[in-house]
Amino acid sequence: MREIISVRGGRRLTGTVDVDGSKNSALACLAAACLVTDGGTVVLENIPAISDVAVMCDIIKSLGKDVSFSDGRISVSGEFQSVDVPKALAGKIRGSMYFLGVLAATMGELRCGFPGGDQIGERPIDIHLAGLKKMGVDCEVCDGIVEGRVTDRLIESRIYLRYPSVGATCNLMLAASRAQGRTIIENAAREPEIVDLGNLLSAMGVRVSGAGTDRITVTGTDVVRGGIFYEIIADRIEAGVFAIATAICGGKVRLHNIILYHSFPLISLLGECGVRVEEDDNSILIESDGRLHPFKVEMMPFPGVATDLQPAVAVMASCTEGGLSTIVDLVFQNRFQYIEELRHMGARIEHMGNTLKIRGGVSLHGCRIAGNDIRAVSALLLAGLAAEGVTEIEGVEHLRRGYPQIDAKLRELGADVEIRQLAE
Ligand code: UD1
Repeated sequence: MREIISVRGGRRLTGTVDVDGSKNSALACLAAACLVTDGGTVVLENIPAISDVAVMCDIIKSLGKDVSFSDGRISVSGEFQSVDVPKALAGKIRGSMYFLGVLAATMGELRCGFPGGDQIGERPIDIHLAGLKKMGVDCEVCDGIVEGRVTDRLIESRIYLRYPSVGATCNLMLAASRAQGRTIIENAAREPEIVDLGNLLSAMGVRVSGAGTDRITVTGTDVVRGGIFYEIIADRIEAGVFAIATAICGGKVRLHNIILYHSFPLISLLGECGVRVEEDDNSILIESDGRLHPFKVEMMPFPGVATDLQPAVAVMASCTEGGLSTIVDLVFQNRFQYIEELRHMGARIEHMGNTLKIRGGVSLHGCRIAGNDIRAVSALLLAGLAAEGVTEIEGVEHLRRGYPQIDAKLRELGADVEIRQLAE
């Protein structure tokens, strides 16, 4: 059954949102939970109920392990019975890439369908493969399947990443956990999700230092412990979407359960736009009269403003009172398919290379539009909240991949939003 999300714009937002656990941390930590050698169970807490997590669980089950998920808590136990990550499952999420590292480390052999995820331009895995090769994995890609074999054991190595890829950094940390000796990852990504993965691996008995800096050292071990409970970090992207929703609609919203440090880049941008942000230990209060100033921003690896917020930030630029805003995405070159949909709503956006120039002082109007990735659909939803009239958005399955109960959370704040099923 196809679904659309329908929004009547123009409502101010007030109230409190409990931010869920991070999608990207959940995927990396679930992969780490598969590294256990002592038969113990790893229990992860604060896991968001989203479809990407469900797919990750299906992959782990298809490999023979036991997984149970209820009430924000996932337990992973048992042994791998297979080294084949089915193409159909791998192609649904980007997080399937982590089984390259995990299977190389635990089984010495892997066959993994090419990872999927958002359609945001080319998403190669050459940095992952180069690092794994350096660690002793003999791997090649053939017909959309990555095949790899470790001749003896993963070996001590120093790996320089040609770009600080989040996925490659996590993948190599996972593989290094069971390698012989020390793996040093230079030019590593510094995202909070990497620190989270490093903390979980440390709790499992792996020596990890430098996570959160550009040099990470992982000392492999034969004994990776289970029998632990670990709570993953809050989702800074979900927090960002609600913060921007409040900025553009006007109102006063408290975001609970966030990690302030992870939201600083966006908080600083909101400040430039004229939004008041009051910081507390694990919450922020956003207050906006909906009158926003134009701005310039570059989406960059952490601690820059996250590329995953680029589409939402573009909506914010369209909602400024006037003037020209500039957005440059230095991470993904082609994350711009959504701008045509925003233009249908009245946005004035010029697109050159990886740069957007967006004119404020326009009024967006509701219409029927569609998005084809998680962050695009959430941005179109934001545009609908700010638009006059009713906006109907196709692509709800993408929202379900990354945002737990986003419709219900927005209704709690006073938005007029509903998901409807369409007769085929
Ligand atoms: C992760 C996140 C995604 C986020 C992105 C950047 C997950 C599941 N997804 O994706 O939400 O937008 O980080 O913060 O955690 N690249 C290569 N070769 C590679 C790997 C990457 O050229 O082998 C390039 C990519 O095309 C892109 C850039 O490096 O231009 C960054 O990608 P990367 O950090 O790897 O993103 P992901 O880990 O895929």
